[in-house]
Amino acid sequence: MSEIDNQPNLLNQALVDFLDLYGPGEADRNAAIDLLSEIIPRHMLASGDSRFGLDWRKKTEVFDFLKRPILGALSPTYVSTTDSSARHLALKGDNLEIMKILEKGYFGKIKMIYMNPPFNIGGELIFDDSDGYLDRYESYISDSGSPLNNVSIDAGASHSKWLNAQYPRLFLARNLLRNDGVIFVSIDDHEFHHLRMIMDEIFGEENFVASFIWEKRYSPPPDTKDVGYVHENVLCYRRSDEFQAGLLPMTDAQSGRYKNPDRDPRGPWKAADYTCRYTAKERPNLYYEITQPNTGERRFPKKTRVWACSESEHIKNVEEGRLWWGKDETNPVPAKKKYLFEIRQGAMPKTILEHDVVGHTDEATKELREHVPNLKLSGKPSRLIKHLLSIANAGNNDIVLDCHAGTGATVEAIFSLESEGENAPQFILIEFPQWLPEFDGHLFDALENRIESCRSKYKREDDCVKYLHLKRSNFRVWRGKVGAESEVSEQLELHVQHVSPESTSEELLIELISKAGFSLTTEVERIELIGKQVFSIEGGAMLICLEKEITSDLIDALAEAEPLQVICLDEAFQNNDQLKANAVQTFKARAQTEESEIVFKTV
Ligand SMILES: C[S@@+](CC[C@H](N)C(=O)[O-])C[C@H]1O[C@@H](n2cnc3c(N)ncnc32)[C@H](O)[C@@H]1O
Repeated sequence: MSEIDNQPNLLNQALVDFLDLYGPGEADRNAAIDLLSEIIPRHMLASGDSRFGLDWRKKTEVFDFLKRPILGALSPTYVSTTDSSARHLALKGDNLEIMKILEKGYFGKIKMIYMNPPFNIGGELIFDDSDGYLDRYESYISDSGSPLNNVSIDAGASHSKWLNAQYPRLFLARNLLRNDGVIFVSIDDHEFHHLRMIMDEIFGEENFVASFIWEKRYSPPPDTKDVGYVHENVLCYRRSDEFQAGLLPMTDAQSGRYKNPDRDPRGPWKAADYTCRYTAKERPNLYYEITQPNTGERRFPKKTRVWACSESEHIKNVEEGRLWWGKDETNPVPAKKKYLFEIRQGAMPKTILEHDVVGHTDEATKELREHVPNLKLSGKPSRLIKHLLSIANAGNNDIVLDCHAGTGATVEAIFSLESEGENAPQFILIEFPQWLPEFDGHLFDALENRIESCRSKYKREDDCVKYLHLKRSNFRVWRGKVGAESEVSEQLELHVQHVSPESTSEELLIELISKAGFSLTTEVERIELIGKQVFSIEGGAMLICLEKEITSDLIDALAEAEPLQVICLDEAFQNNDQLKANAVQTFKARAQTEESEIVFKTV
């Protein structure tokens, strides 16, 4: 029987961990809540009917979508799976199924998530996540250009339908975020108020960071009737209070205010007031006498406006030569030099994102045309995404997930940062292969064009992107509801032959890697053991053997390599139960203690 785990949510694992720790008899409610709160927002675990929140028709469907087994898998499109140099990922398919797949390898690992979902204004793709979703997806991609069943492309979806689409995706996003991670969601006034309520519910009100207002236009749209809408919101929530907003790089105008008239070797500086708004009565310690070093004049501050620092700090400022007494050095009151190098960390982010700082939609269109001239769409300007990356504090060792990558503004932002020598994070993009008749291609093709064009524009040729697409799992999944008896026997048979015969080893490999909880860019090496090919994952932590026939010599060789985990094909044992039992014993016997046992699985 295959031991492949198609369970999407980590709820089962949390319950198993809990029962391992406490046993069913001695259940400790608080301990259970602690464990579960890793995957379920803590306030949702609170008992009672007094919970405040938004309700809508068929809200419970959301939890069905989250609970059901994963039917899909990611399959390599190009850039070989064994090419471990690829740092970035571009994933084609429905983002709900893909986020569920990502959950195993990326739980609590993403530093920043950006979502730019459809705004529910009509003419957008809103995928129907109800049962049969994968069949619908497959029929759509195999018949490009046909209208996608159950996808509202023309009219706006009802609020309930829209919320049912966003809720599970946000729920998974929370699981993917690191404790110091943050999520930004672009939205306009059609669903802003609903989105804020469900984000409060999922992330907790205490984790609301800001509702940024992005000035997306420099003038009102021509068809404006009453009020000229020139903005969009970006809702921002943190995963926990471990998140700390980053400071923004200073603009040229800001740094231009720092000058160096006295050729100070410490570089440009700006004069800061040496007095403050307190009176001598309010701050007696700031009321003291100082000496003008060039005229010898001694003076107290005004009684209504005392010095800005204590006397000991003043002495330090004098010793460090931080005081500016004017061009001819005879000013009676000094100014303190604030050096540019000291405030290099930058400026504090503000809730208003002005178009001259972060760009507007026209700028986004121009940027996109440069890479994909025949695409009549507009996305976000890359300066906006760069701004969000700075607020998120996302750097070199971090991962950023864009769940609605669209035309690829995130790619442009990250590659251009890298080319400027900045610390840029790794990206994971998800986009649906939505058919665009005027482009005569899929939106994902346009995204791919932009990625490749940006790689050459920003000279990122060495920075490989691994392209994967959603397809049906390579392992047959036991369907939950089986009706007639004949169906039952068909299912049983399928289960015996549980690896799809059409699957390639590359496809099996990537699915097993992700199901085992490794990242999709993890290091994979082909090695040989007694003349047979074996895949070594992350420096030998896991060995995957996809040989169709296994021998006891190969089992011994696998055990001798001392991995933490071994996965082999079930069919490789050719129904030889004795050989399988021996394999179990061999891997067990290797261990000195129970904890160091090699985990052995067949699929
Ligand atoms: C508002 S657009 C995003 C634009 C993008 N930020 C840009 O700069 O081009 C929303 C995107 O979500 C994508 N989308 C909608 N439903 C999806 C789903 N179920 N899975 C993946 N992508 C989806 C659409 O194809 C569309 O590109």
